[in-house]
Amino acid sequence: MNIIEVANYEEMSRASADFILKKIKGSEKVTLGLATGGTPLGTYQELVKDHKENETSYDHVHTYNLDEYVGLTPDDQESYHAYMCEHLFHPVNLPLEQTNIPNGAAPELLQECLRYDMLIESIGGVDLQLLGIGENGHIGFNEPGTLFSTSTHVVDLTPSTLEANAKYFKDPSKQPTQAITMGIATILKSKEILLLASGERKQEALFHLLRGEVTESVPASALNMHDRVTIIADSQALKLVNSLGK
Ligand code: PGA
Repeated sequence: MNIIEVANYEEMSRASADFILKKIKGSEKVTLGLATGGTPLGTYQELVKDHKENETSYDHVHTYNLDEYVGLTPDDQESYHAYMCEHLFHPVNLPLEQTNIPNGAAPELLQECLRYDMLIESIGGVDLQLLGIGENGHIGFNEPGTLFSTSTHVVDLTPSTLEANAKYFKDPSKQPTQAITMGIATILKSKEILLLASGERKQEALFHLLRGEVTESVPASALNMHDRVTIIADSQALKLVNSLGK
């Protein structure tokens, strides 16, 4: 695992955007797995800034998001569809027909999971998957206890995840309690993985990922089974790892 330690969130975001831009500029067609939440926001802002300054084209970029809340339609302001359109797709002129996000409002959720998984299978896994990490070690919405063999599926969000994400909902009673997420097996199909972590709140999860055993009780520990993983983390997130010796 390649670990890049940076000073803070801003540096993490710049380093992560540079990493992604190398992929975008280095190939004629690129498939990106994308994440939402607070962690990648700065990365997207850097990509938008680059697009404005350098006119980087996204015409050859195809995207596959990790997850979506169950029950939210794409035009719901709090859906991950809306988040991606606002923070990345629209500002960098990424053709919307080249973007893919699970449909949390699909009438047949199981069928939607199967469709999404087959879509990723059909491209042989994304070229680069961007990931955040939950305080409880989740990746995507794969909560502790998820089998490493799972493909895209519907999950019940844990109290800790609901609490961590409540701040993104104006009306907490509208916060969905389920989501569709790429499974761990789906994520591990990616050709390369970039995980970002910032802030003290992530230090235990990162410690388990980097120093703990590979166990389904820490979903992110599955990344130890992949041979092309880069972690860009700030000193706060690496505090526990560093204090207990590298
Ligand atoms: P955050 O969430 O980026 O909002 O901290 C990360 C995650 O839950 O994967």
